[in-house]
Amino acid sequence: MASYGSNGRRVAVMTGLRTPFAKAGTELKSLTVQDLGRAVVAELIERSNLDGAEIDTLVFGTVIPSVLAPNLAREVALLPMLPKGIPAYTVGRACASSNQAITDAADQIVLGHADVAVAGGAESMSNVPILHSRAFSDVLVSASRAKTLGRRVSTFSRVRPRDLLPITPAIAEPSTGETMGQSAEKMAKLNHIPREEQDQFALRSHRLAAAGTQDGRLTAEIMPYYVSPAYDAVVTHDNGVRTDTSLEQLQALKPVFDRRYGSVTAGNSSPLTDGAAAVILMSAEKADALGYQPLAYIRSYAYAALDPGEQLLQAPVLAAPVALARAGLTLTDIDVVEMHEAFAAQVLSNLQGFESKTWAARAGFSEPVGEVDRSRLNVMGGSIAIGHPFGATGARITTTLAHELQRRGGQFGMMTVCAAGGMGFAMVLENAG
Ligand SMILES: CC(C)(COP(=O)(O)OP(=O)(O)OC[C@H]1O[C@@H](n2cnc3c(N)ncnc32)[C@H](O)[C@@H]1OP(=O)(O)O)[C@@H](O)C(=O)NCCC(=O)NCCS
Repeated sequence: MASYGSNGRRVAVMTGLRTPFAKAGTELKSLTVQDLGRAVVAELIERSNLDGAEIDTLVFGTVIPSVLAPNLAREVALLPMLPKGIPAYTVGRACASSNQAITDAADQIVLGHADVAVAGGAESMSNVPILHSRAFSDVLVSASRAKTLGRRVSTFSRVRPRDLLPITPAIAEPSTGETMGQSAEKMAKLNHIPREEQDQFALRSHRLAAAGTQDGRLTAEIMPYYVSPAYDAVVTHDNGVRTDTSLEQLQALKPVFDRRYGSVTAGNSSPLTDGAAAVILMSAEKADALGYQPLAYIRSYAYAALDPGEQLLQAPVLAAPVALARAGLTLTDIDVVEMHEAFAAQVLSNLQGFESKTWAARAGFSEPVGEVDRSRLNVMGGSIAIGHPFGATGARITTTLAHELQRRGGQFGMMTVCAAGGMGFAMVLENAG
């Protein structure tokens, strides 16, 4: 199997940055997804001292796009300090959307169509579009076409109270109607993940993220955000990280998605979050020519999918062995593992799946991926504590993994992300230091 970039076009992760992640409805609620995306890319370009004229392409991911600016990437590329000629497009692969942006940009580099790319993603869960019902939309259209004021007013007499009920996008599978939380609940039951293990994992996420915030490892990846339009408030860290949470507090929370028999709570789920993250990618050759030192190289990646009606968030278990095989590696070669934490029940199910021969066989392998050494897993916490702006998480994890490899002097790192639609992603990075 030819390895990624074996045509001599190796893709380097040069640097990465993100906004603070804030729980929806809090510090970043007034900002649109364009504001968030533009802010992080502007700061990333500024900090890396990159001449905008060097950028060949910009790819961004988002899950719930703005109705008014559906091609978020192009709005980001039109930042004042960038030339107007950077082609840019927006991708969607649910919670792996910024991974998709990164692999799309990386593929363009491997093909030789680009040498320098900016890739990332953004999400504003505080600004989810709210829709009118079909009946009320029809009335609005008819009213706008009415020729007289009288006709316009009489059109509105057709409106029934129920027509006024707003429609908000649900975090549910269109094919099954099941919400993410219900899927996590189902996975906890199918894989026998006890509530206490979920709460312990959530506690670990908060403790590690709090330590990373306090000692500056996590904050080094975060830009201070001066909130427009007044710019009198500055957000410097993730506001979902709880320094004071305890197992007792977590165990006292009521299950949300199956109130009677459930185990998934607000404490062991990732919260709805606003934020953006981005990375700069270059061909190794270009990085060298510009005199930049890369953080890491992309060694391989893989996407996988399963029936969303089965175990919605289990496909990382199918993607990871493929990414490892494409890298020519096994889990024993991996020094750091970063897994997106949608829910503790999902991470623990994925970890169990990595050890299972049945799941290995489903991915086409005779041996399981193996047991992930917990001291190498999500060493600065994960999405449960840090937060999860759907479109941005993949770029956050890429940055963290590349930095952690450098910090530990490790050679290889692997990340996984579960995504709606029953999809999963895995990528292997190699330390460039
Ligand atoms: C689970 C969910 C419904 C909770 O939403 P919420 O009720 O707004 O959450 P809150 O942050 O207000 O937490 C609820 C309560 O639990 C408490 N709580 C949450 N985490 C806690 C912790 N770690 N320690 C102690 N208390 C905690 C809060 O303080 C709050 O208490 P209060 O009601 O007394 O104020 C929401 O976060 C969600 O939908 N998450 C899943 C998102 C999703 O599906 N993502 C897709 C994954 S790919």
